[in-house]
Amino acid sequence: MNYLFTDLLWWSLGIVGLVLLVIRIVELAWAKLRLLTAMSLPGEKQEFWRRTQWHRMPSLKRGLLYAPLWKKRHNREIRLSSAANMGTLPSRLHALILFGYLASNIAYMFILDWKNENKYALCAEIRGRSGTLSVVSMVPLIIFAGRNNPLIGLLNVSFDTYNLLHRWMGRISVVEVIIHFISWAIVQVADDGWAGVQHKILHDRFIGYGTVGVAAMTILMILAFSPIRHAFYETFLNTHIILALIAFICTWVHCISASVGHLPQTPWILAIMALWLAERTARMLRLAYVNWSGRGFTEAFVEAVPGEACRVTMHLPRSVTVKPGQHAYVRFAGVNCWESHPFSIAFYEHAYRSDDLLPVSEKDRSPPDHRTRKSVGTTVSFLIGAHTGFTRKLYKAALRSQSHSVSMRAALEGPYAGHHSMDSYGHCVLFAGATGITHQISYLPHLIEGFNAGTVATRRVTLVWIVRDYEVLEWARPWMDKILRLPNRKAVLQIRLFVTRPKTASQVVSSSTTVQMFPGRPNIPMLLAKEVGEQTGAMCVSVCGPGGLADDVRDAVRKVQAHGTVVDFVEESFTW
Ligand SMILES: Cc1cc2nc3c(=O)[nH]c(=O)nc-3n(C[C@H](O)[C@H](O)[C@H](O)COP(=O)(O)OP(=O)(O)OC[C@H]3O[C@@H](n4cnc5c(N)ncnc54)[C@H](O)[C@@H]3O)c2cc1C
Ligand SMILES: NC(=O)c1ccc[n+]([C@@H]2O[C@H](COP(=O)([O-])OP(=O)(O)OC[C@H]3O[C@@H](n4cnc5c(N)ncnc54)[C@H](OP(=O)(O)O)[C@@H]3O)[C@@H](O)[C@H]2O)c1
Repeated sequence: MNYLFTDLLWWSLGIVGLVLLVIRIVELAWAKLRLLTAMSLPGEKQEFWRRTQWHRMPSLKRGLLYAPLWKKRHNREIRLSSAANMGTLPSRLHALILFGYLASNIAYMFILDWKNENKYALCAEIRGRSGTLSVVSMVPLIIFAGRNNPLIGLLNVSFDTYNLLHRWMGRISVVEVIIHFISWAIVQVADDGWAGVQHKILHDRFIGYGTVGVAAMTILMILAFSPIRHAFYETFLNTHIILALIAFICTWVHCISASVGHLPQTPWILAIMALWLAERTARMLRLAYVNWSGRGFTEAFVEAVPGEACRVTMHLPRSVTVKPGQHAYVRFAGVNCWESHPFSIAFYEHAYRSDDLLPVSEKDRSPPDHRTRKSVGTTVSFLIGAHTGFTRKLYKAALRSQSHSVSMRAALEGPYAGHHSMDSYGHCVLFAGATGITHQISYLPHLIEGFNAGTVATRRVTLVWIVRDYEVLEWARPWMDKILRLPNRKAVLQIRLFVTRPKTASQVVSSSTTVQMFPGRPNIPMLLAKEVGEQTGAMCVSVCGPGGLADDVRDAVRKVQAHGTVVDFVEESFTW
């Protein structure tokens, strides 16, 4: 029965994965078809793609795909106080998947020989079942924890979603391992009393390692409790890795020291350790490759900007391909160099050899086309809001110098994600809350240049950026200046800036019809309904910012599904 349920769990996960893969392939093929047919058409000719082609799709999006668990709340954190962050609620689809996995684990735990009158035999059955199921969950849980998880791009499922699954599978695995231990202890106490339990733990390799593994996993679960995790993230992360390593090693020794010979679960635990090691090695190799070349190491220029943030420009010593919507983990030599934190790549440019810029011949005086030149380095920019930990230290390091800027050696790990392409949408509406602008701004040069080159279907982009204060607009100024100067920018891009707490009313002035500024928060449902009223081709609405803003945009997207046009929703969030 243990093997049957193991197979059932593998199959359930495999089938969900396969279904997602089929959906992903259909989705990709549909987007490619839309791109190929729409990229040469003006906006008003993209009517076919504007209208939904399957009448049930809008209600599916509204009721399941984009639905929060209940009414509206999904990514707005549940806080007991400013320090106690209880986390967020899963979406309806996430909740269904989690419920399926949890319910099948509970059901498999309860299908036992309840008629057996020997309760110790029943305990032995529970022990075998719980131990087996616990190790089964460890395999996907370790795959889902990886930044390099290939399923992210393959299935178009975000790291955030895998992280949610990782947390729940972890909880299930720990509860099962505790049941495994208790069901062993009940029989042991009956056989030899508590002294027998103690003796076995201290002198029997099989039991001793098993017990340490259970203890490590239990502590790991307690430390991963949301308020602790959020309040002491770095401490949580480091102890989490150490405790997970202890748990894996102990489980492996436990599996190979049984008196009956190696337990059948031994290959799984070896696979878990191999996967973990492979992921760590991939990360280290990638880190070394991206940040070091014959041209030297990565250097970062960190500027403190008004509104308690840092604008960081990293000069990578080799050319790295960056796509819009990607993020990277960064670390700085002078600021807690053992910590690496994720940040969205706001802007990137490639550097070329200076002799490549010279004209090719006497007659031809124009420099070679950049597409034929070989880039020798990449400049990647970030915007980092100062919180209380590493980000605050970085901000203070920049403030300390007279120029409020500092150069230091740094390292970038990535880039990661970026699997949401907007190229096939005729109309994109991008919402950003404060530092969330980093994610959205990265799409702008790509879409405007694509419009000019005729390689994207996008004909209209509306960027809505909500900030507290006028001075915060300085954060994105150097990148915005370049974007606003791009040819045909006015034909494609409209910018709406909302300053929620302006110091004076005179600060809120619109500079042109395509760049408008308003005081206060936007009325998101009204704003989106207006965009849908003027919709050009298929629409993609994306949001990156505080959880409350993301929930409001999600709600507005669900409401406009009633219009019967194609409005897709992408949320860039992280809730770990
Ligand atoms: C994919 C992604 C992209 C992001 N992009 C940006 C961006 O462009 N600009 C920006 O300002 N912020 C961005 N963030 C948020 C940023 O990573 C955190 O604000 C930063 O790590 C906080 O560091 P701290 O030590 O100052 O945090 P603290 O003040 O100690 O904690 C503040 C919050 O950040 C969380 N946090 C702390 N360390 C990490 C970590 N290593 N990984 C994830 N969360 C952490 C904590 O749980 C806590 O909720 C992004 C986060 C993710 C996941
Ligand atoms: N790739 C990513 O995942 C990524 C990238 C960058 C940033 N981020 C995250 O984005 C978040 C940005 O937070 P922050 O602390 O910098 O922002 P913030 O200062 O808390 O808020 C930004 C602005 O959004 C407004 N706002 C908040 N909720 C709103 C709502 N429901 N409707 C309309 N406006 C709303 C605020 O208005 P009020 O003044 O009225 O409150 C404020 O002006 C952070 O959590 C950051 O880590 C994520």
